[in-house]
Amino acid sequence: MKLILDGKINRTYVQTLCMAFFHGEKFPKDEKDATTVLYVKTEDREGGIYCEAELCTQNGKERATSFDAFSGIKSYERVSKTAVGKAVYEAASKLTGKSLPWGILTGIRPSKVAADLIKDEGKGCASEILKNEYLLSDKKIRLVTDVAQNEKKIISLATDKTCSIYISIPFCPSRCNYCSFISYATPKLFSLIPEYLNRLMLDIKNTFETVKSLGLKVLCVYIGGGTPTVLNESQLDKLLSCIGNCIDTKELLEFTLEGGRPDTITEEKLRIAKAHGVNRISVNPQSLNDSVLEKIGRKHTVADFLMAYETVEKSGIEHINTDLIAGLDGDTKESFQNTVDKIISLSPGNVTVHTLCVKNAAEIRKGGAAYETDDKAASASVDYAYDRLTECGYAPYYLYRQKNTVSDLENVGYSKPGEEGLYNVFMMADAHTVFGVGAGSTTKLVFSNEGKTEIKRIFSPKYPYEYLQDNQNKYKEAEDFFKKEV
Ligand SMILES: C[S@@+](CC[C@H](N)C(=O)[O-])C[C@H]1O[C@@H](n2cnc3c(N)ncnc32)[C@H](O)[C@@H]1O
Ligand code: SF4
Repeated sequence: MKLILDGKINRTYVQTLCMAFFHGEKFPKDEKDATTVLYVKTEDREGGIYCEAELCTQNGKERATSFDAFSGIKSYERVSKTAVGKAVYEAASKLTGKSLPWGILTGIRPSKVAADLIKDEGKGCASEILKNEYLLSDKKIRLVTDVAQNEKKIISLATDKTCSIYISIPFCPSRCNYCSFISYATPKLFSLIPEYLNRLMLDIKNTFETVKSLGLKVLCVYIGGGTPTVLNESQLDKLLSCIGNCIDTKELLEFTLEGGRPDTITEEKLRIAKAHGVNRISVNPQSLNDSVLEKIGRKHTVADFLMAYETVEKSGIEHINTDLIAGLDGDTKESFQNTVDKIISLSPGNVTVHTLCVKNAAEIRKGGAAYETDDKAASASVDYAYDRLTECGYAPYYLYRQKNTVSDLENVGYSKPGEEGLYNVFMMADAHTVFGVGAGSTTKLVFSNEGKTEIKRIFSPKYPYEYLQDNQNKYKEAEDFFKKEV
């Protein structure tokens, strides 16, 4: 798509909004023969900002205008964004016949926008603004304001003196065709696991030493992936013993092992995890429909999931999470509803409802292939999940959005009271420092001073093989960052 922008207009914002209407759209700078062209022009006028947008595609041409007035505490950027957003939205909506549940609101964390509005204007006014200025649907207003209120209590547990630790195990028993996470999934690459673990354990020890020297208290340890339970019993024992030698795990608020794939979970691995203090585990079906599981290359059945779930329940690990994905190939509104109902009947403390996000690195996009989805089914699926889960005593407390997600929908963590997954909220909200250990992990140093938050990210090499060659000294970088801030 070619963008012609005239005025003080945020290009990234316009691109993101266009991608919500046109999945996978690209915006090359010197596109000559573009078949889709969007022209946007803004003008500062008496008391506000006027915008006109014209969108031409092979299917026709639409034009829309808007005017947003300056008032109260609204910044110039906010007025400019809503003026541009409304004109672009109207033109694109007229041309495609689509309406977007999140209206003109883009960004990973809409609950931050809602929380700021609630703080500045009160909950009633915030809802009005989300409806009239940002064009959110009533359902998304309810969702985002609920999340803003529920996550607030969790965020308040984090301070400049606390942190969390993420440990990456980027290996999987096989590759699911929708997934774009970096992980090694072949027996040949598994031969790297012993060497990877040795290096990881060295980095874990160094990380805990850095945390200690910085005087930080660790609230959460999260072992994620990939699929950490791909480790065999003795490897898992070694890894968890290493963590247990660095910290008294009883003092952690949360110690998560992201099991994930049911086909990697055994009674013995769970016994080891529980003995080392793990108090939260994921066991993920994604769908409880065998034909969908087969289509997405998941390599386990519904029966395998149910057996793994029973084993996890019997293990005595306190908090169980199950991940689902709406919008998967072959799934319908009815079969997703059946998945949600079955999961609720198992009564896990946490249910995370993702919407399929189609990224280039996924098998389903191989060679840039287009990926058709049933947008209506995905939309009805996430609405059903919200309705049923909230009726059954779960509350949404964690929410994030990604580009190229089916129907521009979202990912939501639901939990029973007191069962919220803390690490995910801390991470998403930049609530405190997170040390990432292992390939593909990110260390995020966070420090707040007089209402301003300073953030520095340090990326580990993406692939296990590169990680083994790496000798970056992020401990020194962390120490320098906090020295500078204090
Ligand atoms: C880091 S993955 C690891 C989980 C574990 N390996 C598994 O597959 O069960 C965490 C979750 O992200 C979600 N996910 C992964 N790829 C996705 C995609 N393309 N779109 C939406 N959700 C996705 C899945 O629900 C998955 O359980
Ligand atoms: S969805 Fe999970 S198991 Fe499947 S490839 Fe991605 S990380 Fe691995």
